[in-house]
Amino acid sequence: MSKSVLKSIKVLSVFGTRPEAVKMCPLVKAIQGDPRLTGAVCVTGQHRQMLDQVLKAFDVQPDYDLNLMRAGQTLSGITAGVLEGLGPVLQAEQPDIVLVHGDTTTSFAAALAAFYQQISVGHVEAGLRSGNKLSPFPEEMNRCLTGRIANLHFAPTQSNADNLRREGIAHGIFVTGNTVIDALFSLVRPNYTFQAEGLNKIDLKGKRTLLLTAHRRENLGEPLRNIFAAVLKLAELYDDVQVIYPVHLNPAVREPAQAQLGGHPRIHLIDPLDVQDMHNLMAHCHLMLTDSGGLQEEAPALGKPVLVLRTETERPEAVEMGTVRMAGVEAANILREARALLDDQFAYDTMANAVNPYGDGHASERICDAIAETCLIESEVKRPC
Ligand code: UD1
Ligand code: UDP
Repeated sequence: MSKSVLKSIKVLSVFGTRPEAVKMCPLVKAIQGDPRLTGAVCVTGQHRQMLDQVLKAFDVQPDYDLNLMRAGQTLSGITAGVLEGLGPVLQAEQPDIVLVHGDTTTSFAAALAAFYQQISVGHVEAGLRSGNKLSPFPEEMNRCLTGRIANLHFAPTQSNADNLRREGIAHGIFVTGNTVIDALFSLVRPNYTFQAEGLNKIDLKGKRTLLLTAHRRENLGEPLRNIFAAVLKLAELYDDVQVIYPVHLNPAVREPAQAQLGGHPRIHLIDPLDVQDMHNLMAHCHLMLTDSGGLQEEAPALGKPVLVLRTETERPEAVEMGTVRMAGVEAANILREARALLDDQFAYDTMANAVNPYGDGHASERICDAIAETCLIESEVKRPC
């Protein structure tokens, strides 16, 4: 259907944590470049340094910053802060649609704040489900509730879309791919020079590099101690292996990481990396051990095997394809899975076969098209159902 576009659609993107920013910045850029859309950005500041790193990498300047992060912040504290803080922003901006991303406290609270003002919500990275309310906690429920509120659902994969349909959502579902692949493809370069001083001091060529990230709430405490015990054992067992761990700024992660892993010469605990450094380091590493969601999507696109340090995942696609394996949170199991890959080149190569189920790097464009198609009818801005 051809449409004469006179009025552009006002889109307010709201995000607050590192992973949301990595996945929303490519979309913010695409919105800025789309004549059918007018974009504004509000960051909640649920994260501070780790959010600012990403904004800088993509050169995104927010129009609003709620600056919420506090040491020891609670889920209810952030939720209340987003609800309170976003109200006046929505009043001032009067967007046609608010875009939120994924499963964080920011995402759910921002969707709710928009709903309270009867503003349409588009949910980016919709439809992922672990099926367990308590894992990932509270992200699984955040994502389900955001889906209930949303008018438009941008599902990365067909199986995410199927999850939504099974829950009775009949309209407004678009399979777009994941915008994380847009970010990755724009940042990984063949002759990249790392910016982080800490990284340039590490010899990435002489040893097999295991890249570790771990921060999830449900892993704090004993699971994290088990993970660290397994990693320490791996470093002790293999002279040709080194571990790089960009440690999350949460003190509940940093303190045990330092206590258990701090002393080993081949375990490098470093500060969180800029996203360009992180993506390019992933491209150079041998194997990833992670409880992160985003890394499970990025690694298959780079052909890197991933052991997931969790008991379940809402991202089964790469497990089915064979590049991601669930290693759980028991030290013996993690050790067994990692050793199987370190000792057996065939097993490693089989897993390292690059199969990327998460998109072709054009998810942001598809989301822009879906917003324009749904909201623009004959030059009038129409609210999606
Ligand atoms: C949140 C998200 C989780 C995501 C993770 C990404 C929810 C419910 N969870 O985790 O899905 O995987 O972010 O990293 O929204 N901190 C800093 N500087 C920063 C960021 C964090 O100092 O830039 C410290 C602060 O002390 C903060 C703590 O980390 O209080 C925890 O941050 P928070 O966003 O509450 O973490 P999670 O909820 O665990
Ligand atoms: N990341 C980063 N620097 C780091 C660690 C991770 O830029 O030091 C990126 C990573 O590549 C991915 C995102 O941050 O794009 C994942 O964020 P995180 O693990 O905090 O959250 P999750 O994906 O688990 O929600």
